[in-house]
Amino acid sequence: MYKILVVDDNELQKGFLYNQLKKIGYEVTLTTGASAMNKAVQIIPDMVLLSIEMSGINGFEILKSLRSYSQFKTTIVIMISDNADTSIVINSFLKGANDFVVKPFEIGVMLGKIVGWQNTEIENQWSGLSSEQSSVLQLLKVLMDEAFDKSKNSSPLSIKPIRNACEMLYLTIEHQGADAVIKAVEGYNSTMFLHSLMMCIYIMLFARYKKYDKDDVVDMAVGGLLHDIGSAKIPNSILFKPGRLDIKEYTEIKSHVQLGIEILDNTPDMPQVVKNICRHHHEKMDGSGYEGISGDSISMEGRLAAIVEIYCALTAKTVYKETSTSADALSIMMTLDEQYDPNLLVEFKEAVMNKFILSRPEAALHGELDPTLLEDFRSAVMKVNIA
Ligand SMILES: [Fe+2]
Ligand SMILES: [Fe+2]
Repeated sequence: MYKILVVDDNELQKGFLYNQLKKIGYEVTLTTGASAMNKAVQIIPDMVLLSIEMSGINGFEILKSLRSYSQFKTTIVIMISDNADTSIVINSFLKGANDFVVKPFEIGVMLGKIVGWQNTEIENQWSGLSSEQSSVLQLLKVLMDEAFDKSKNSSPLSIKPIRNACEMLYLTIEHQGADAVIKAVEGYNSTMFLHSLMMCIYIMLFARYKKYDKDDVVDMAVGGLLHDIGSAKIPNSILFKPGRLDIKEYTEIKSHVQLGIEILDNTPDMPQVVKNICRHHHEKMDGSGYEGISGDSISMEGRLAAIVEIYCALTAKTVYKETSTSADALSIMMTLDEQYDPNLLVEFKEAVMNKFILSRPEAALHGELDPTLLEDFRSAVMKVNIA
């Protein structure tokens, strides 16, 4: 879990932050200015929210001490102050703060900064990947942000760059494996991007394992990326509501499928396979899914996506929760053979256990690309640039 240390002498302020941050799953520790350094050494936080105005010792002194310890050199520190004087703001940054928030603040503003810094830290680590892996991740992030923005405004998507990016991902995975890319987004604090990307990767791996043609695999991967695009139109207060949903909220959540289909229908050249994955990813073989269709009425790609959906949900590793292991997820899934296509379930289990039989997993260790495929990758990059 992502650990946040809140340093403030104001009990009310600390209590407010504690409740808000805890509610959405952060591990929060509260401390006073006097105990801040001891507490930091004890828990090694991922982030510090540091009040400047405190009795005895002020936030600047604590920031200076923090930065003098090697383990806190790069810890994200957000300063909090009653005072927005330019000199205070500048002093904060000069002394090594990453960000600055003025009291009183809206909790949404603080959360936006926390999530933004969390994700920046993860994105910074992408530079340690191969250039193909890091460029494809950055590209997919930009394209998905754009797709969600367009969907919110009911504008058609641009399918060509999304498909080309999925082709780049296919080539990267084919020659460098998928593990590094999957690991590189662990803990990314954007449920939509993370879940869409995981669906894209696992649908790609499974369809490839089933020996579908490359073009079909790429189309299905696009389906994975866009299967929940309708969620862009659901209010965040419902989408990310912790705890139980009431019937009205659940109905609204379910509408993401119909909203998604409308967005995809409104986009020229959208492959049918992508629409089928969006339409059918919550359908169950016994008819207990969203729309209630059953058996063969559910498209093959929809049945495949439904299996990947449950696998991704069970194994999802976020800052908020520990994950089921792959083996635990598979054993749970094997008991659900009335809901999911039983033959596909068995095949999926084999595929996971065989690590999807990637052609050159050893290349992943060396960050190599086969020279011919490097050419293919470059032309895919060119296509993205042109589109
Ligand atoms: Fe969904
Ligand atoms: Fe989903």
